[in-house]
Amino acid sequence: MKKIVVLGSGNGSNFEAIVKYFNGNTDIVCISNNKDAFILARAKELGIKNFYIQHNDLHDFFKKNHFDLAVLAGYMRIISPEVLNLCDFINIHPSLLPDFKGKNAIKQAYDAGVNQIGVTIHRVTNLLDGGSILKQVVHKVKTGISYEELEEEIHNIEHQTYPQVIESILQEGFEQCEY
Ligand code: GRF
Repeated sequence: MKKIVVLGSGNGSNFEAIVKYFNGNTDIVCISNNKDAFILARAKELGIKNFYIQHNDLHDFFKKNHFDLAVLAGYMRIISPEVLNLCDFINIHPSLLPDFKGKNAIKQAYDAGVNQIGVTIHRVTNLLDGGSILKQVVHKVKTGISYEELEEEIHNIEHQTYPQVIESILQEGFEQCEY
């Protein structure tokens, strides 16, 4: 069985979508650098192995544990090259990268009044929201939509897209996976 680790610092809605999509046919571990993060509570509720691991201890963790893929889902720190060397990492970001990197990307795009927004899944480097793009989903911003409605639409796209991309990487291999 393939084994993945999902790393998050906050809410964990993408993590939950991933767990529900794989429905027990992939070994999933959840780690958070924030001991109070809701992602850890979700993991407990879903019966998924979960660990609070300080960011500086990630290197040790990845030295000791092998995963087919490391999945960032709202992990709010930059991963060092030493850790990136130990596993294949991907990330999801709620914008059409390279536009609107960093925090509050949906709000940044909404406030900028763009008519297209989207979601990007990319390989991870030690540059913020950098790394080659694996998948982008473009979404039209409806006239008059509120920020909250747009945010919900984007999160729904994330929840549908991320598990599918993870599945194809697990099937085809990280390096082979080009969209
Ligand atoms: C998502 O919007 C993701 O794209 C970004 O952080 C958010 C995490 O949300 N990197 P959640 O913790 O999965 O609910």
